[in-house]
Amino acid sequence: MKKNLIAKLLIVSMMFCGVFALTSCGGGGDDEAALVVVTEATFPPFDTVDDDGNITGFDMDLINAIAEDQGLTVEFKDIGFDSLIPALEADEADIIAAGMNSDDPGRQAKVDFGTPYFESQLVLVVADGNNSINGIDDLTSDMKVAGQIATTGAEEANALADAGTIGEAIILDKVSDAMLQLQNGDIDAIILDKPVTESYIAKQPGTAKIVGEPIGEAEHYAFAVQKGNEELLEKLNTGLQNMIDNGTYDDLIAKWF
Ligand code: ARG
Repeated sequence: MKKNLIAKLLIVSMMFCGVFALTSCGGGGDDEAALVVVTEATFPPFDTVDDDGNITGFDMDLINAIAEDQGLTVEFKDIGFDSLIPALEADEADIIAAGMNSDDPGRQAKVDFGTPYFESQLVLVVADGNNSINGIDDLTSDMKVAGQIATTGAEEANALADAGTIGEAIILDKVSDAMLQLQNGDIDAIILDKPVTESYIAKQPGTAKIVGEPIGEAEHYAFAVQKGNEELLEKLNTGLQNMIDNGTYDDLIAKWF
């Protein structure tokens, strides 16, 4: 009888260890559930989708490297650019990684930005064969200029429309749609981030070109977290500094640009 009891105890304790091992081995470090990182993936080389449908890009590689360094587990979600900040506010996501300009008081009131990881600028983009628009001064009140919804480019396009400089600001969900409309001649120009424009042109040479001087102030892309999530912000900032110090940041720049 005693032998039986010991055997039973052994089995129960083995089962308990088994369950324990399962729960503690699932993650990539922490026992916590994966942090949800939201992006809008028509923004190469920062945020894009590969041939297999995976969300990828400079932002994703950098977040993955930082997460590994800081013992965090992350998963990516591709949503509308105008849904990124609302997703954090509704506690449906933990991090925005979307080439998002952090020098924006409206955004700063709603989310907390980490240390900027990339400096960028907006440019004016026209069809490759367009010889009449050579800069912002050539825009006229009969023209349509596009920008991606809720972005700094859309803000500039709206400002031009409000000032009567252009006829209409065309606000589109995806950068890829804007590029398509430009090729089809539906719109006259796009206001878009320079490195992203260059990435589209590199993939489809002869479709579009950058004209004139950069528009507005330089932008500083940063990752964002929910307002007041200092613990996560601290980890992102420390991880970013570590990636700069150990050369991973430069490797990713070389890989994606
Ligand atoms: N840099 C611009 C902004 O902050 C555009 C960002 C668009 N990013 C994207 N993943 N679609 O508004």
